[in-house]
Amino acid sequence: MANESRTIVEQQKGGSVGEDSLTIVDNRTGREYVLPIVDGTIRATDLRQIAGPDGDHGLMSYDPAYLNTASCRSAITYIDGDAGILRYRGYPIEQVAEQASFLETAYLLLEGELPTAAELRRWQDDVRTHTYVHTNVQKFLEGFRYDAHPMGMLLGAVGALSTFYPDAKTVTDPANRYLQRVRLIAKLPTIAAYIFRHSRGLPYVLPRNDLSYIGNFVNMTFEIGGRHEPNPVLQRALEILLILHADHEQNCSTSAVRGVGSSHVDLYSAVSAGIAALYGPLHGGANEAVLRMLDRIGDKENVPAFIEEVKAGKGRLMGFGHRVYKSYDPRAKLIKQVADQVFAETGLNPKLEIALELERIALEDDYFVSRKLYPNVDFYSGLIYQAMGYPTDYFTVLFAVGRLPGWIAQWEEMLTDPETKIARPRQVYTGPDRRDFVPLDRRG
Ligand code: ACO
Repeated sequence: MANESRTIVEQQKGGSVGEDSLTIVDNRTGREYVLPIVDGTIRATDLRQIAGPDGDHGLMSYDPAYLNTASCRSAITYIDGDAGILRYRGYPIEQVAEQASFLETAYLLLEGELPTAAELRRWQDDVRTHTYVHTNVQKFLEGFRYDAHPMGMLLGAVGALSTFYPDAKTVTDPANRYLQRVRLIAKLPTIAAYIFRHSRGLPYVLPRNDLSYIGNFVNMTFEIGGRHEPNPVLQRALEILLILHADHEQNCSTSAVRGVGSSHVDLYSAVSAGIAALYGPLHGGANEAVLRMLDRIGDKENVPAFIEEVKAGKGRLMGFGHRVYKSYDPRAKLIKQVADQVFAETGLNPKLEIALELERIALEDDYFVSRKLYPNVDFYSGLIYQAMGYPTDYFTVLFAVGRLPGWIAQWEEMLTDPETKIARPRQVYTGPDRRDFVPLDRRG
């Protein structure tokens, strides 16, 4: 029996049992299956041929949080979580953060190569041409309450852009996709800045296309009475932070963009799904949660008691831990350097002392060491954003502005991958078996 089934599978795969294969014996039936291994993976659909004794629909893999499931092939970002390595298109994050501008990084992620000087000029010009938003977007934002959460406003406003650009539905046309990509990268800082002004009751400041991408964004947020003195150290620090957030392979929000985009909805709707995912405190919302945690702790001397609470399961140490990094997040390392530069300009953020003490104790404590919990990108970023003058509930908006090129690059890659189909996971049904409907007057 075993040999018989082995032959069938080998014939299906058109070859003999090679080294790059996995032999599975189904102890329910005694049948043996040989599955090819490609790029360190087996195909979950290959498991379907493994049917039980009752001839069921075949075996599925069960992985509710995608702990060990590759959902796509991607050439954009490489992470080695054990070694603390992050690369964009092969380039180490440390080099990109030190040497590239944000738009140059966006180009690299989107096009796969660093731009030449002429390509970069054209890309910057394209983006500059689209920074204005329809004035109805302002009216739309005015509909939000004065205390609306900035991320709620952002996801609503970006989703609404799909109604301003109905041509974006043509997702199969590369030229059209390029246009939408440029529009969204150009307009997101404008919308983000309008949201900032809305929260503070300040009049909107129109984009200034003589300024850099970051310079324009900062000006739109902080200009008062037609004046703003740019601080080059803080602007470069913000640019580095946005570069560090620009892509992070198949995280929760990127998977949301890919999954929603796989239905062929327009880019704006797909990205608003990513913004919604990012909003959550276990993902991008952690930078806000870190600041609220530091506020709650209040003083360095309360840190040991707080750590004990975390260890007792009464909450998490926000900004610590990562699904992929099981060593120091390389972005957190770079952010600490940026923090030094920023605090030299703005003066120390008093909460830094609490954060440093939390990190010191946690990195020595067996609870965190044994679980390989290290500071992630969000642990220090909030302190820097606060020193720059951004309110706590605005931090995740800055993360979204940074992550946008990654979301779009992944969306583009998903749409152009011949293997892409609409995302549709399977389930293990655990509900009741068939039963007859009970009319209301006969229920308990
Ligand atoms: N504080 C205390 N304990 C933690 C923390 C933390 N921050 N993170 C994980 N743990 C513990 C868990 O309780 C669990 O312990 P157990 O094995 O005794 O049950 C163990 O470490 C493994 O944790 P999981 O939740 O299984 O890890 P997962 O990979 O699912 O979660 C996550 C990763 C969501 C980032 C988690 O570490 C966390 O909640 N961190 C705090 C929130 C945060 O900072 N999020 C930002 C992540 S970076 C980003 O998205 C931009």
